[in-house]
Amino acid sequence: MTTQARLGGQKLTRIVYSEETIARRVDKMGREITESYTEDDDLLVLGLLKGSFIFLADLVRSVDLPLQVDFLVAASYGSDTASSGDVRLVYDSDASLEGRAVIIVEDIVDSGNTLNRLVPLLSERGPKSLEICALLHKRIGPLVKEPRWVGFDAPEEFLVGYGLDFSENFRHLPYIASL
Ligand code: IMP
Ligand code: MG
Repeated sequence: MTTQARLGGQKLTRIVYSEETIARRVDKMGREITESYTEDDDLLVLGLLKGSFIFLADLVRSVDLPLQVDFLVAASYGSDTASSGDVRLVYDSDASLEGRAVIIVEDIVDSGNTLNRLVPLLSERGPKSLEICALLHKRIGPLVKEPRWVGFDAPEEFLVGYGLDFSENFRHLPYIASL
């Protein structure tokens, strides 16, 4: 591991998903998404910031369909490593969802609080379909809707890198590591 892995005074214990492993999986997910829609679906890829920014950037480059990208920022209040049940939209997309095929892109599903709050809210906006694409899934709590595409079933550890942070650090690492 390089010096960048020791930013923030925290030590990373091991690399859980290497850059190559992630790249292969994300490319496959993009191709699966391509096969699941047609050119007429008016696809809108909605990323949940900040954690999904790198995943989404790689994912959409493997999708061979016309699509648009927009973002939401949801915040949940809690400690650094545990999310609370209180989820709030701090930035909303102004894209219309009406009649469109919408894919929510999430970095990691942990308690499921974020998705359980957002899915009903976005469903009310009248999308033709609403699916979830998550890079990592800890499979902890019950979800109002399961992700249609999951990159990896994640271990119950705190993970950082490839967009995932600990107190805003480590997002830039090209791999995913355990803190
Ligand atoms: P949930 O609402 O508990 O499902 O948590 C979702 C959000 O919590 C994710 O989008 C992440 O921003 C954050 N999160 C949950 N687990 C981890 C982790 O292991 N590392 C970094 N962030 C995490
Ligand atoms: Mg986070």
